[in-house]
Amino acid sequence: MRRNAFALFWVILFGSLLSACDNDDKERQASPDTLRKLATDRQLYIGAAVYPHLLDETRYTETLAREFNSITPENHFKWLATEPEPGEYHWEGGDRIAAFARANGQKIRGHTLVWPNSFSHQQFGVLPDYVLDASAPETLQNHIDAHIEAVVTRYADVTDRWDVINEPLRTLSAGVDPNHITVTLGEEWIVRAFQQTHALDPDADLYVNEALAESPGNKHEALLALVQRLLDAGAPIHGIGLQGHFLGGPPAREDLESVLRDWQELGLKIAITELDIPVRDGDFERQAAQYADVMGACLAVEACIEITLWGFTDRHTWLNDFMGDHSAPLIFDADYQPKPAYRALHEALSQD
Ligand code: XIL
Repeated sequence: MRRNAFALFWVILFGSLLSACDNDDKERQASPDTLRKLATDRQLYIGAAVYPHLLDETRYTETLAREFNSITPENHFKWLATEPEPGEYHWEGGDRIAAFARANGQKIRGHTLVWPNSFSHQQFGVLPDYVLDASAPETLQNHIDAHIEAVVTRYADVTDRWDVINEPLRTLSAGVDPNHITVTLGEEWIVRAFQQTHALDPDADLYVNEALAESPGNKHEALLALVQRLLDAGAPIHGIGLQGHFLGGPPAREDLESVLRDWQELGLKIAITELDIPVRDGDFERQAAQYADVMGACLAVEACIEITLWGFTDRHTWLNDFMGDHSAPLIFDADYQPKPAYRALHEALSQD
């Protein structure tokens, strides 16, 4: 009898140990590593563009803090948002984003100090009127200097990368964009903007950020040539940002990889800065494979150190609002559930 009781004791103890292990396993399955942890372990940035008013939504902030080690203010560091009139600053939105990043140990990608592009201005309105109205070179240069100084000094503590210039080339072809600033001041203003930003925030990496330059071809070649000219003229450029709005699907992986290798050869860091990949036929597995390809190309090229998404949930993306194109381009669905594309990034980052 005593022996039976003893045996029963061991069966119960052993059983409960087993089930504790089982629970541990379930626990592990229920909370796998986050993208943030996987990327941080590989010394990569995984980022998302954010809007300050969305920081009121708990699901939004929980996901943002959990999954990303970098934040890009989608609009609130831009010139129109920060200084719509000369000397009239609006910091509320930017401050809110900066406070969130500080509180959650994230770094900010400072997007963007000057976005002079004429096509984008037609599309979105990217520069305040007083900048476009400044016809005297000196006045225009003073506006640029003052703007850069104000934004950089305010956010340097939490911003470790700046998109000093956004979209220097023509959007739909390959030449230097003939916008008001470049036509008035020549390319020299870009060199000066980099030098000034570097003087104000010497530890930050400074980037040229460009659209539609992720494939081999004329625009890629023109961008390489421009960056080389700017470097030769003394601009402290540390990285190239490729936006990655793959609205018609990303390039073939080998094409993207060859573009990244060209930048690596130039000695620059590389960031995919605004990734989104729309789906219009409900094929989320294909979208996942496309995300995997982009991440795979980045992981294959050592100089590629960042993938930032233009948002993270299909609930809030510029494509819904701006294009009226509800094409589910991101990695969480509108209810903040991870999509196949999330799992694809997770898998890619988990591989050795
Ligand atoms: C977009 C924002 O997502 C929109 O909300 C805004 O109306 C216009 O700008 N390339 C860029 C980003 O570099 O700054 C743009 O962001 C998208 C295209």
